Amino acid sequence: MCGIVGYVGNKKCRGFIIDGLKRLEYRGYDSAGFSCFAQSDYLESVKEVGSVKKLEQSLEKKSCDGFCGIGHTRWATHGVASQANAHPHFDCNRKIAVVHNGIIEGFEKIRNELIKLGHNFVSQTDTEVVPHLFEELLKEFELKDALKELVKKLDGAYSFVILNKDYEDRLILVRKKSPLVVGLSEEENFVASDFLAFSDKTQNVVFLPDESITVLRKDKIEIFDFSGNKLNVEAQKIDHKFNDVSKQGFEHYMLKEIYEQKQAINKTISFFSLIENLWGQLGLTTEQVKKLKKINLIAAGTSWHACRIAQFFIEKYCKIPAQIYLASEFRYMPFFRQDDSIFIFVSQSGETADSLEALRLVKSFGVPTIALTNVVSSTMVREADGYLHMQAGPEISVASTKAFSTQLASLFWLSNKIAEQKSLMTDVEMKKAENDLFIAAEILESSIENYKVKITGQLAPFYSKYEKFIFLGRHISYPFSMEAALKLKEISYIFAQCYPAGELKHGPIALIDEKTPIVLFSVLDELIYQKIVSNAQEVKARNGHLLVFAFEGQEELINLADNCFILPRVNPMLVPLAMTGLMQFFVYQITKLLGCPIDKPRNLAKSVTVE
Ligand code: G6P
Repeated sequence: MCGIVGYVGNKKCRGFIIDGLKRLEYRGYDSAGFSCFAQSDYLESVKEVGSVKKLEQSLEKKSCDGFCGIGHTRWATHGVASQANAHPHFDCNRKIAVVHNGIIEGFEKIRNELIKLGHNFVSQTDTEVVPHLFEELLKEFELKDALKELVKKLDGAYSFVILNKDYEDRLILVRKKSPLVVGLSEEENFVASDFLAFSDKTQNVVFLPDESITVLRKDKIEIFDFSGNKLNVEAQKIDHKFNDVSKQGFEHYMLKEIYEQKQAINKTISFFSLIENLWGQLGLTTEQVKKLKKINLIAAGTSWHACRIAQFFIEKYCKIPAQIYLASEFRYMPFFRQDDSIFIFVSQSGETADSLEALRLVKSFGVPTIALTNVVSSTMVREADGYLHMQAGPEISVASTKAFSTQLASLFWLSNKIAEQKSLMTDVEMKKAENDLFIAAEILESSIENYKVKITGQLAPFYSKYEKFIFLGRHISYPFSMEAALKLKEISYIFAQCYPAGELKHGPIALIDEKTPIVLFSVLDELIYQKIVSNAQEVKARNGHLLVFAFEGQEELINLADNCFILPRVNPMLVPLAMTGLMQFFVYQITKLLGCPIDKPRNLAKSVTVE
């Protein structure tokens, strides 16, 4: 989603800002803009709908550059993707420019008041109230007081960077909930919504505190709280660089990431098993782990599906209840504090706004919080009491693939580790669990190879003609069917409804016809498998078309299927992990035939930083 990059120093800033914006591109955006102090009396700016490349080309045609500037990539929330709605936004005299991430709640009221005072608005955005309001306040207050008044009037979660023509030597940074990070260097300083934007320039960073106002010059940083009190915030060293991730010969990032899963899982599990003080890193004592009575998991999107599957791991191995919450719903439900419980926040990016807000809420009740993320420098890792860092490597394609499978592997491993600490499992059994994971990761990859030709040549052309699908699963394969349906919807735009197979007869059975294929995911629990066979029979009895993901030896089910994938048997808890690669590859090939933009599906963002 939206990205902010800013520079103040003794070099021209345009090149750096464009470069920084390109590094944030994969998060998803629809327009981009740049502004800087140049020679003229007003702030110069260029904005474009579309790519940062397009912005770069437009900037090359103009001589728009300076020693202090800001750039932004916008993902539309208030108003369509247009040049007028792209950031930066300006005051009436074009002396103040603002780039903003987040949402200003209740901005309409402020906007109407400002219009009454004669301010001229040119966009539909919430952001535009900021420069106009600031312009108004500067008529009455000096800079610092105007900023204090400004934040008093703004609700919501936001971070913004302001250029003010009267103060050409500085950037003004304001942060409430949405992240902003400053990079410090010799005679030049940087700011961005993610430090990857400047990670090749400096490793010396200051994560700005929540509810803070910062004045950043090329050789000075001053941070204040919203009441204007000076804050002393230490800079820290981050030795994490931006890896310029290429497609390495693959046609899409998604395909490359599908093929990276086995390695990502193996690397993550080997990395976890070498952590010396695991419980300490998770912010827990061994006593706390032994006494655990409940584990709660909170996430969004695909990560939430991983949590839904992990519920089965926790309840089987740790023998305690697990409760899974959607971050966007959790915050609006009553909170029942329970002793001896923990909350694990699962997020690829560690920046999802809903998950972060849920984390802050849980922390306020004093319950231990743990972040499981793929980005160690993320806000979630900084704010949680403890963390586990997956080693999936950068995931660029918007549709999550290797992060999902690595989350499954991580949560499976952690459940076993907790069980071992609770003396429910021996170290030999723990080793076997790790080995089971490596086997499932192997099957995840080899099954793609086994069915590659059939999928590309036969199945994808056949199934890409359908306009809707029903996905069914039972027990541990039900949440997996949710993930499969989401994958198909988000990248191919084909409608897919998922349902617990046992519920078929309570409604969705009415939808079975020749136009709607049923995709059924099996399990390896013998009792539940038999129920799945009955569900398959229900479909066939109504002449439904059945595509089945089954396991070796499941002849009854295989014989009922119109088409079938047969996988080697694994630990029954790892059925979803084993099926993951094949399911993703199948969806990928359908989408490719339909000609959709696989890595950047319409309307979606990789990192959802607004609620
Ligand atoms: C977006 C992405 C999904 C992701 C979800 C949660 O919707 O497109 O792929 O699953 O956010 O993101 P997180 O980074 O918290 O896992």
